[in-house]
Amino acid sequence: MTRAGTPSLTIPERDSSVLDDIQSVKIRSRFPIFKHKIYLNSCSQGALSDAVESGLTDYIRSWHEHGSPWEVWVEHYERTRALFAEFIGADEDEVAIVTSASAGINAVASALDFRERNRVVLGEFEFPTMGHVWLAQRSRGADITFVAPMDNALPAHSYEPVIDRHTAIVPLTRVCFKNGFRSDVSAIVKLAHSRGAWVMLDDYQDCGTRPINVKDLGIDFYVTGTLKYLLGPPGLAFLYVRRDLIDSLQPTVSGWFAQSNPFAFDVNHLDLSPTARRFESGSPPIPNVYAAAPGIELLRSTGMTQIAAHISNLTGMFLSSITAMQIETKTPLDSVGPLVVLQAASAKDADAMVVRLAEENIVASSRGDGVRISLHFYNTANDIAEVLQVLERNTDLLFTRSGVPERSGS
Ligand SMILES: Cc1ncc(COP(=O)(O)O)c(C=O)c1O
Repeated sequence: MTRAGTPSLTIPERDSSVLDDIQSVKIRSRFPIFKHKIYLNSCSQGALSDAVESGLTDYIRSWHEHGSPWEVWVEHYERTRALFAEFIGADEDEVAIVTSASAGINAVASALDFRERNRVVLGEFEFPTMGHVWLAQRSRGADITFVAPMDNALPAHSYEPVIDRHTAIVPLTRVCFKNGFRSDVSAIVKLAHSRGAWVMLDDYQDCGTRPINVKDLGIDFYVTGTLKYLLGPPGLAFLYVRRDLIDSLQPTVSGWFAQSNPFAFDVNHLDLSPTARRFESGSPPIPNVYAAAPGIELLRSTGMTQIAAHISNLTGMFLSSITAMQIETKTPLDSVGPLVVLQAASAKDADAMVVRLAEENIVASSRGDGVRISLHFYNTANDIAEVLQVLERNTDLLFTRSGVPERSGS
């Protein structure tokens, strides 16, 4: 057994190209939770800003004042579609607004015809819902192949032997929710496309932390939701479908908001919208739409490039201190964030570490034997210093570089 090394709590100097201190303080002041907590759980739920709160209040006010202002609400929903489309470099008619990432994935899955290409290839780093949605398609002829990781990595070449000419689609998480591993999206897209398969990128664990351009990524489908780094509420997600695929895909889960004109109120005909709205179903979640748009606007007005640099800088600081403390991470040491996952000795110990952090007013989370620390634009070097101090006092719950935790009193 080895004792975890003496921690280095000296924080390396910040990179001046990122958000400066004045900007950081200004951003933070918009998130009241920081008055009493250090919030490091954006991988689960983004912190609530004054902007998002007033979005919700605006919705309540409109309901109070007008009763049923559906024209205004639908206008707001279309504006949010346009806002998100611009955010990811898509056109608004390539974006569907759905109530969860699962709903978006299901709409696409329901539209696939598995007769010619029946294989779905996905890594074991996907969020479980991705497995569930595609496994449910087995009754329609889909054959699901999982790609196993090697330790905490799933390199592109692992997909090489399994993506073949029978592969219809490769669902791919950009960042893994349980270890922070970042997929090599461009290599996997290249491989899949060379074999005629589509790629569906699940960006839920990264969207909101850096600039995104779905066209540059060359992906066919893109799905994400608002509740994490986009700073919004649960109950709202987006699905991008590459323009030239829309017409050929007919979802078999549908509803009136998926029709060309929902307000035609025509019960006798299925007349799917020519746009990505065909992947939607019923009445849009208007309160969530009102709450989500200000979160995206807040990020955009700060600058996505600066946000990415800030997160990368903080991640680098955290990982270098963790390395000096000889604590094992599940996340690669060259990670640019936003998620850093520490290797606990067991799932029980990971939970215990989250409790110890909570006792010091630090909000983090665990998944299995990993302690998740997630960084966003509102976090600072001081947050990291505070976490390191708690980790230092509780190294017995973590794996050290020798692979064995030091257990106090045993
Ligand atoms: C990568 C990823 N995909 C999908 C989901 C789930 O999305 P939803 O609940 O909107 O279906 C999550 C939620 O944590 C996630 O982390």
